[in-house]
Amino acid sequence: MIQEIKEHILNVEKAAISTAEDAEQLRIKYLGKKGILPQLFKSFKSVPVEEKKSFGQALNELKQMVESKTIKNKAVKGTNSAQEQLDLTRPGVTNNSGNIHPLSSVKEEIVDIFKRIGFSVSEGPELEDDWHNFSALNFPEEHPARDMQDTFFVEKDPDWALRTHTSSVQVRVMENEKPPIRTISPGRVFRNEAISARAHCIFHQIEGLYIDEGVSFADMKQTILYFAQEFFGKDAKIRLRPSYFPFTEPSAEVDVYWGLENEVDYRITKGTGWLEIMGCGMVDPEVLRSSNIDPEKYSGFAFGMGIERIAMNRYQIPDLRYFFENDIRFLRQFA
Ligand code: DAH
Repeated sequence: MIQEIKEHILNVEKAAISTAEDAEQLRIKYLGKKGILPQLFKSFKSVPVEEKKSFGQALNELKQMVESKTIKNKAVKGTNSAQEQLDLTRPGVTNNSGNIHPLSSVKEEIVDIFKRIGFSVSEGPELEDDWHNFSALNFPEEHPARDMQDTFFVEKDPDWALRTHTSSVQVRVMENEKPPIRTISPGRVFRNEAISARAHCIFHQIEGLYIDEGVSFADMKQTILYFAQEFFGKDAKIRLRPSYFPFTEPSAEVDVYWGLENEVDYRITKGTGWLEIMGCGMVDPEVLRSSNIDPEKYSGFAFGMGIERIAMNRYQIPDLRYFFENDIRFLRQFA
């Protein structure tokens, strides 16, 4: 019996295999269901005990020999059965990886633009007290922004509310840091408004604050122009329109020139070609004083912009609500 196996080993060793077909023939002959090896394994039972060990070793040697001869060949030349195991044309298993939300990527882009000119990033709480959201920002007691209609107050304690703007973070930074201050504060804000294509009770803002000795309106204008050109393109033009905010004096609204060539431009810019992107102004001396910064020594500017607004313009998104519905078909477009 052992002699028979040894002969098989010699034969297999000598077998000339030059094609994939040869390899397959050899495999079937030895390893196939009715092949030589299964037969030999079956006869293992009837081998006398004292021969079992060497019989087993010889069998394994034969098996390995056949395998190495046929597998090596498959790897190099590829047989039909190898292709069955490894079909390179089969579509891969797709990973459903997520992608960054358009609001996040726009926010990151804006933050990066300001970081490049030395602004740090600061954050504050979404649940805010009256002082940081209103009083320290020079909102008079009877100011309509404090009205129940606009603000989500905490039940039973009107001193606490969901912040209505990220300007509250300005106050927190001024309380904790000494000038020079250069910071931007991205975050989520809340207003008690009816939800529509253009308004939502939740949205996102980025606040900017720069305080130092001798900071002027011209510094503000140049900083905003720099931002507009980095974000909207080197040819971007801006204009400032006088406006009013309790915490800045003078105050302005900033428009960027969008163009007026097609219907979409008309709709987005309400027929003017200009698009409002933020509010800004010189920090009111009263606001500096509230945070123990000497307005005789320091001056500064602040600005605040809505991220949704900017993202809607960039991607021509007609309805604000898309940002919050988490519809996978909408989000996938930003992958
Ligand atoms: N907080 C204002 C708003 O939510 C935006 C704003 C305007 C922020 C002027 C500022 C600023 O810092 O100077 O409408």
